[in-house]
This record gives sequence, C-alpha cells and structure tokens, in this order.
Amino acid sequence: MSTKICVDKLQEGLRTKCLGHNIFFSREVGSTNEWAKKLAKLGASEGTVTLAETQTAGRGRLGREWVSPRGGLWFSVILRPKIKPAEAVKLVFVASLTVAEVLRELYGLKAETKWPNDVLIGGRKVCGILAEMDTVDNSVCFVVMGIGIDVNFDVGEFFPRELRNVATSIQNELGKKVKLESLFKALLERLEKIHEEFIENGFDLVLEKWKECADFLGHKVMIVDEGERLVGLALDVDGEGALVVKSEDGTLKRFFVGDASLQLEDKIRS
Ligand code: BTN
Repeated sequence: MSTKICVDKLQEGLRTKCLGHNIFFSREVGSTNEWAKKLAKLGASEGTVTLAETQTAGRGRLGREWVSPRGGLWFSVILRPKIKPAEAVKLVFVASLTVAEVLRELYGLKAETKWPNDVLIGGRKVCGILAEMDTVDNSVCFVVMGIGIDVNFDVGEFFPRELRNVATSIQNELGKKVKLESLFKALLERLEKIHEEFIENGFDLVLEKWKECADFLGHKVMIVDEGERLVGLALDVDGEGALVVKSEDGTLKRFFVGDASLQLEDKIRS
C-alpha cells in the first residue's frame, strides 16, 4: 500500500450525486482550504474538492499550523448550503460524524467525536476539521470544509515531539497502511448523505448520532476560551452546537464553537 494517491482511482465507482464530481488534485499545495476558497470565489460548484498529498502551509483552528506529511488525507470540500451563517457551525458536526462513522465501519476503529471539531481514537486525535465560510447579506455563500486525517504514516516519525502523545494515525492504530482512495470515496459518500440529512431534516438526528460517538460527555474537561480556563463536567452539546459544562461551583456554562477549545480529563495538567 502506497502513500501516493492514485488519481485515476479517486472517482472510480464513486457513488455520490455531486460531492467529488470535480476534484482538483496536487501532489503538494500550501493549504487545500486556501485553494478551495479561491476556487469557490471564482464560482466553483457545490461538491468541488481540493486534495493534496502533502501541504506546506496546512492550517488548523485558532491559527495553528497543521502538519501534513505524505500519507495523510488532506482535502477540502466546497458546500453551498442555503442556511444562515449562524447555522454553519453545525456543518462541523456533520463532518466529524462522517469521519467517525467511516473509520468505525471501514476499519472497526472506535473513533470518537470530540467537541467541537476533532475525531479521536483512544483519546488521541486522528482527524481535525477546519470549516471556513463566506457570507453575503446574512446568508452563506459557501463553506469550505477542510478535513485532515492522519492515515498512512507513523506520528512518532513525522510529528513534532509535543504532538506525539496526543495524536495518532490509522497506521498507528491498525499496524498497517490502508487504501487512501477507498477511504476518500467512503468519506465523500457519507459526507453527502449526512449533509443531505442535515439540510432536509435539520440538526436533531445528526446531533443525536454525533453524541453517541462522543465519549467525552459525562467526563471532567477543561475549556480554554479567550485565555480563560474552566474545569468542569461536560454535560451536553445542545441544539446550537454549544457545549454545556457544569463548573466546579455548580453553575452551568455554555461555550460556542469559535475560539473555545476542550481538553479531556487525563490531558489536564495543573
Ligand atoms: C484542527 O484540528 O485544528 C483543524 C485541522 C484542519 C486540517 C485540514 S487538512 C485539509 C484542510 N487544509 C488545511 O489547511 N486545513 C484543513
């Protein structure tokens, strides 16, 4: 199994109505999100994908660098949902549920969703999602859904020291490489299905399924929000995608997807 992506196989047998019908592929790019945003501004249609074997300027949430070696799946999907900007955060849940379900079904991995935008295996991050949108007159013009999955590489070899104990890859979990093209197609098919469910029927079922995969609920967590730290019990994620935490003094606090980040109990350091 190779870490190279076979372009000819990316659309072979792909069963989607629109996602992945147009794929822009590059062996190396700065950031697939930046590339997709440029294409979206030029009018690229819904479902257009940018995909790269490696990114030289991959970006994570909160302006962080995203290490993107060859062997990972680094791609961005252009969506043009007819929703209000405030609803767009829910698409992050659509995407993380997609990844968790596909990793469970294809490889039998116990992939967990973690608020707001991660997928973990055994408490270690295997996937991150960066959604960026453009709006006009209080409606969404496009959303670029960037998905980064550590697949066919050893995080011990490619990641900086500080990430090695908090990250994992599919190769690290399974002890072998998998077919990148098959994983990519399964993700597009599931993303289209869950996105359709969200657009047609609303957020309820998506959120319910997302919570079934969310092991952090009911556990002690630490939230970092605009420099403030709060330790408490993660009680729920509500219908707006906000995290509800019971703080140590018993008060309930809601955190919105945006600048807040969440650390799990065994990762909290005093
Ligand atoms: C995070 O967890 O902070 C989000 C990481 C998102 C990484 C993906 S990789 C594909 C796309 N291109 C980027 O530059 N970022 C996203």
